[in-house]
Amino acid sequence: MPTPRLHPDTIAAVRDRADIVDIVSEQVVLKKQGKDYVGLCPFHDDKSPSFSVSPSKQFYYCFSCGAGGNAYKFLMELGQRSFSDVVLELAKRYQVPVKTLEPEKRQELQRQLTLREQLYEILAVTTSFYEHALRQPDGAQALTYLTAKRGLVDETIQRFQLGYAPGGWQTLYGYLVDQKKYPVALVEQAGLVVPRTSGSGYYDRFRDRLMIPIHDSRGRVIGFGGRALSDADQPKYLNSPDTELFDKGQTLYGLDKARAAIAKEDRAVVVEGYFDVIALHAAGSETAVASLGTAFNANQVRQLLRYTESKQVILNFDADAAGVKAAQRAIGEVEAMAYRGDVQLRVLNIPDGKDPDEYLQNYPIEAYYGLLDTAPLWIDWQIQQIVQGRDLSQADQFQNSSQEIVALLSEIANADTRTHYVRQCAELFSNGDGRLVPLLAENLMVQVRRQRRSPQGSGPRPSLSFTQTSTLEAAEAALLRVFIHSAEHRTEVLDMLESRDLQFSFSHHRSLWQTLRAQRDAQPDELIGWLRDRTAESPALAQTQHLFYLDEKTHRDVLRSPLVIRAAAACLEQTLCEKRYRHFLQLWSEGDNAKRQSNRPTTKVKSMLKSGGSPN
Ligand code: UTP
Ligand code: MN
Repeated sequence: MPTPRLHPDTIAAVRDRADIVDIVSEQVVLKKQGKDYVGLCPFHDDKSPSFSVSPSKQFYYCFSCGAGGNAYKFLMELGQRSFSDVVLELAKRYQVPVKTLEPEKRQELQRQLTLREQLYEILAVTTSFYEHALRQPDGAQALTYLTAKRGLVDETIQRFQLGYAPGGWQTLYGYLVDQKKYPVALVEQAGLVVPRTSGSGYYDRFRDRLMIPIHDSRGRVIGFGGRALSDADQPKYLNSPDTELFDKGQTLYGLDKARAAIAKEDRAVVVEGYFDVIALHAAGSETAVASLGTAFNANQVRQLLRYTESKQVILNFDADAAGVKAAQRAIGEVEAMAYRGDVQLRVLNIPDGKDPDEYLQNYPIEAYYGLLDTAPLWIDWQIQQIVQGRDLSQADQFQNSSQEIVALLSEIANADTRTHYVRQCAELFSNGDGRLVPLLAENLMVQVRRQRRSPQGSGPRPSLSFTQTSTLEAAEAALLRVFIHSAEHRTEVLDMLESRDLQFSFSHHRSLWQTLRAQRDAQPDELIGWLRDRTAESPALAQTQHLFYLDEKTHRDVLRSPLVIRAAAACLEQTLCEKRYRHFLQLWSEGDNAKRQSNRPTTKVKSMLKSGGSPN
C-alpha cells in the first residue's frame, strides 16, 4: 500500500503542534509529579509507575524497560504503525494542512479532512448561535428556566455552552445557509435541519428548545440534546441523530470536562441525565458523565478506564423502577468485564427514587460524596436486588432466590471471591441462625460448582457454541476485508447483503459496516487512512483495526474475493435461519400448554435451538 511522501514542512509543523502529554494520556493514565508526569509503562508489564513523560522536553522515557522517544515514536511503537501514518493522523487532529510530494494525493487527503472539519465548524457556529439566542428577548423564558428552575449560575451556563433554539421553522437554516452560506447538504449531515417530507426544502430540527451541546472527549461539539421547555412538548429531550461525527453509543456526555477529575480522584461516576452531569459539576463534583439515553455499554466503560487507574466506575442511576432497570441493563452490558475484574463496578441508588440533580437541590455535595463512598460493589447490589422484597421463609421464594444467586455467583472467575460470596449469601439465607450457615454454604457451593461445570445448565440458553461463533466472526471479517481492500468487489458485497437482507451479528463489525457502506468509491489506501483516523475516536472501530492490514492468508482471500463472498454469505445466511428457527420455537413454546404436551419439537429443531444464536 503506497503511502504519500510527506513534505518536510508538514512533519515539522505537526511536531510543533502535537503535545506529548495529550497523546500519551489517551493510552496511559498519567499523574503529575513535579514538572513531569508518571504512569504505568504501556510497553512492558509494569507493576509500579516507571514511565515518565516530560512536557518541557516533549519526550517519554521508561526507567524500567528503556523505551523512549517523542510523540511520533510513541504512536509508532504502540500501534506498530509507520512514520507517515502517524504524522498524517496527527496532522488531521491538529488541523495542520498536509503537503505531500505528490499533488494528487494531497487533494484527496484534503477532501476527507474537509468534510469532517466543515461539520465541526458548522456545529461550533451553531453552538454560538444558540448561546447568543439565549440572551435575546426570545430566549428569556429559557434563561429563566435555567436560572430559576434549575438554579444554575451564569458560569455554569457558559461552561456547558447552554443555549436556546428559537421557535420558527427556519431560524437556524436562515442563519447557516442564507447568511453564512454553508451548503445545505452539510447542514443536514450535521443533523441540524431535516428535509420536508412533502415538497422541497428543509426545516430546523430543534425549535423552541433549551440546547445542550454534546462534546467529544477533546471538547469539540459533535451533537446536541434539546430539552422541551414545557411538559406539554414531547419528547422531553430531542437529540441529534447519529451523524458522521456523532455516535450515541460511543459518546459520554461531559467526558471532556470530567477527564481530569476522573484521573485525579481515580474514579468515574456515570449518571443518566444531562442535568445530572451539569448539577454535579456545578456543585464541584466533576467526575460525572452520562450515557445518552441509550444503555451504558462496554465501549463507554473502556473510555472511562483510560482515566482511572484503579478502574473504579460507579453507576448512579435513578432509584425508581426505570433506573434500577437501566442499572441492570448496564451491568448486563459490562458484566463480562466486571466478572474478570477489568472494572471495579459499583452501583449507587439514591434513596427515594431521586436522581443526582434532584438530590442536590436538597442536600449538600458532601452528603452525595458519602453515598458514593458507601456504594456497594455490583455483585453485592445484585444480591440485594435478588433478595429484596422476597420472604425467604417461604419455600418457593427461597428457591427462586437461591437459583438466581447460584447463577450470579457461578460466573465469578476468582475462586476466593466466589467462596467469599457463597459464605455471605449463606449468612443472608440463614436469617440470623448461625448454626445453619455451614450447611447453607455447602449447599450453595455444590450448586455453584455444578453450574460452572455445565454453564448451559437447566434451561435452554441459546447461544452459539464457540466454534460456530468463530466461524461466523471469520466470515463477517472476510466480507469486510474484501470491501476494504478490493474496490472492484464492493458492489457485489453490498448487493449480496441487501438482496438477502443479511446483517452483521458482531456489534464491532456492525459499526465498521455502517462507517464503510457510504465509502464505496474510495481507493483502498485512502479508505484505510480515513478509517484509521476514525479509530482514534471510536473504540468499536478500534476493535476492527486488524482488518485494515493483510497478511499472506488474508491477501490470498482478497485475490479470490468472489469465492469468499459466496462462502461468507452462506455462513451469514445460516445464522439468520437459525435465529428464525429459534424465534418460531419460542413462539411455539409460549403457546398453548396443552398443545405443547402433544406436539413435542422435532430433534432437528431442538438441535438448532442448542446451537444457534447471536453472539452479542
Ligand atoms: P430523564 O428523563 O431522567 O432526564 O432522562 P432528566 O435529565 O432527569 O430530566 P429532567 O430534565 O431533569 O426532567 C435521562 C436521560 O435520558 C435521555 C436524555 O439523555 C436524558 O438526560 N432522554 C430522556 C432522551 O434522550 N429523550 C427523552 O425524551 C427523555
Ligand atoms: Mn432523571
